[in-house]
Amino acid sequence: MDAVCQEILERTEWVAIVTRDSDTGLPHLVATWGDYIRNFGIIEGETIIIPAGRYHKTEANLRKSKSLQMLIASKQVERSGGRRGQGCILYGEGEIQTEGEFARRVKEKYTWARGALVVRVQRFETLL
Ligand SMILES: Cc1cc2nc3c(=O)[nH]c(=O)nc-3n(C[C@H](O)[C@H](O)[C@H](O)COP(=O)(O)O)c2cc1C
Repeated sequence: MDAVCQEILERTEWVAIVTRDSDTGLPHLVATWGDYIRNFGIIEGETIIIPAGRYHKTEANLRKSKSLQMLIASKQVERSGGRRGQGCILYGEGEIQTEGEFARRVKEKYTWARGALVVRVQRFETLL
C-alpha cells in the first residue's frame, strides 16, 4: 500500500467489503469500522485483520472464491490540486480464521468476535 492509501486507512471511518455471493454470483456487501482495523495495524505490509462477529455469508462466499474488494475513503485526505477527499480500493484475498494467532488477537480485543477476517492485500487503486 502506498503512503496515500495508508493515510486513508488511518482516517477512514468505515470500510466496505465486497465478496461474490456463492449462490447468486452477485456482489455481497458488508462493512467494518476503520478503528477496528487500525487496532491491529497492517501486518508485514500486506495483511489486514478484522473482527468477525457475524460475516457468515461472507465466510461461505470466501470458501468458494477468495477474492474480495474493500473501499476506504476520507474527506480529511488531500488529493492532487489541494482539494480534500480521497478514496482507495484494496483488492485482495480473504478468509475467516476461527483459530490461530490472528483469531486469538481479535478475540482478545473483541470478546464478541468468533474469529478474524484475514485479508491479504494484493493491489490498490486511488479513485479521485
Ligand atoms: C459500519 C459497520 C461496521 C460493521 N462492523 C462489523 C464487524 O467489524 N464485524 C462483523 O462481523 N460485522 C460487522 N458489521 C455487520 C456486517 O456488515 C454484516 O452485516 C454482518 O456481519 C452479516 O454478514 P454476512 O452477510 O456476511 O453474514 C458492521 C456493519 C456496519 C454497518
